[in-house]
Amino acid sequence: MSRKIIFFVVLTLAMSSNSITLGADKEVSQNLIMKEMIALDKAFKTTIDAVVLNRLDKIGPAFEEVHKVREEVEKTVKGGKKITLPKNQERFKMFIGLDNRFHKEVEILMESARKNHMVRVMKQTNRLLGLCVRCHTMFRK
Ligand code: HEC
Repeated sequence: MSRKIIFFVVLTLAMSSNSITLGADKEVSQNLIMKEMIALDKAFKTTIDAVVLNRLDKIGPAFEEVHKVREEVEKTVKGGKKITLPKNQERFKMFIGLDNRFHKEVEILMESARKNHMVRVMKQTNRLLGLCVRCHTMFRK
């Protein structure tokens, strides 16, 4: 499929999506996703610096906040509360799948950083970047 067609399909899906939730609920859960993303963004940028400056010891602590927010997300989902995505709510299951996969890859990053294994850390950093982009392609359009 050409890029243009993929873009069109994603765009069409995005435009047809419609999430109906009560205002207050929506606010709380949307904030949770954004909270996760802000923490993730910060941790990922620190990771890139850590790789560039050969300071892999900086990576573990950088993800502490991410883990905290992640626990909150899990609690919310397990408690049967709905997490509202800004867009593409109908693909919520796919979102959770991608999110879980993402966090498994983060664990591998943590492990490699702990062992000070630069080659693996670089590989994981690349892989994670690919997953940021992949999820955003689906859920930010
Ligand atoms: C499992 C899906 C998923 C993954 C993986 C993911 N994101 Fe996100 N991200 C989202 C969603 C959903 C939003 C909010 C969508 C929107 O803005 O409409 C978002 C929003 C953001 C925002 C806020 C954008 C804005 O407009 O304010 C940043 C920054 C961000 N993500 C960074 C990252 C980084 C960095 C990574 C990878 C290290 C990442 N995200 C991985 C789903 C994901």
